[in-house]
Amino acid sequence: MSGFKKIVVLTGAGISADSGVPTFRHAGGIWAKYDYRDVATPEGFAANPALVHEFYNLRRAGMVSVEPNAAHVALAWMEAALADSGGELTVVTQNVDDLHERGGGRNLLHMHGELAKIRCTKCGMVSGWLEDLFVDTVCPACSATRALRPHIVWFGEMPMLMDEITQKIAAADLFVSIGTSGSVYPAAGFVAEAKALGIRCIEINLEPSDTAGLFDETHYGPAAEIVPAWVKEAMMT
Ligand code: OAD
Repeated sequence: MSGFKKIVVLTGAGISADSGVPTFRHAGGIWAKYDYRDVATPEGFAANPALVHEFYNLRRAGMVSVEPNAAHVALAWMEAALADSGGELTVVTQNVDDLHERGGGRNLLHMHGELAKIRCTKCGMVSGWLEDLFVDTVCPACSATRALRPHIVWFGEMPMLMDEITQKIAAADLFVSIGTSGSVYPAAGFVAEAKALGIRCIEINLEPSDTAGLFDETHYGPAAEIVPAWVKEAMMT
């Protein structure tokens, strides 16, 4: 395989687009339909928790009804093949869906949280959850009401697992960005971090992202086609 032993792959909404999950920033995307301040900020949740629960209930139900695509599966295959030869592939995802997991991925860092989990703001419990969540749903751990929230990072909150992500990038010899517009930090800054460390950087996306100029190599087209082709090529050369 390619000579690369430690690969960090950053993914965004574009990798799940071919599974039918809507992306955020295009005509008809999620942020064209909803004001993010209403549904994806701590202030929005404090002002109208029922609206926020409804937004994530819809997205959770949508997630359950879709399937991983060839891009998720190809990355999971690459992860396993690399592990067999003593290497490591880590997926750092901005996506809150579980399609990497269902596609077979195991070495995953969900930096923006997970739709399939909830958190109690009173006792700190984090639990798997695929049902709808309501304002008066009782915390299964401490029985508090009005305390449960989606286990999602909102605007203005610190992304999860940042120390681990920084370490993984620092130890990588290849950084690959797939299906992200490169417009939300800190994830959008990972390519500059990797580049400053002399790590080779590849972008795979439908179109050039905001940070496209920083990449050493670019591949443009639908993820479900381009990612498996890139994985095949990388594993053969
Ligand atoms: P965006 O919606 O900003 O960008 C999605 C990217 O995927 C765009 O550059 C598209 O061109 C590309 N794309 C669309 N369809 C594709 C396909 N079939 N194959 C490959 N690429 C495709 O989504 P993200 O970059 O993930 O955060 O957004 C980052 C964060 O902003 C999200 O995690 C979310 C959002 O607000 C929070 O909610 C905190």
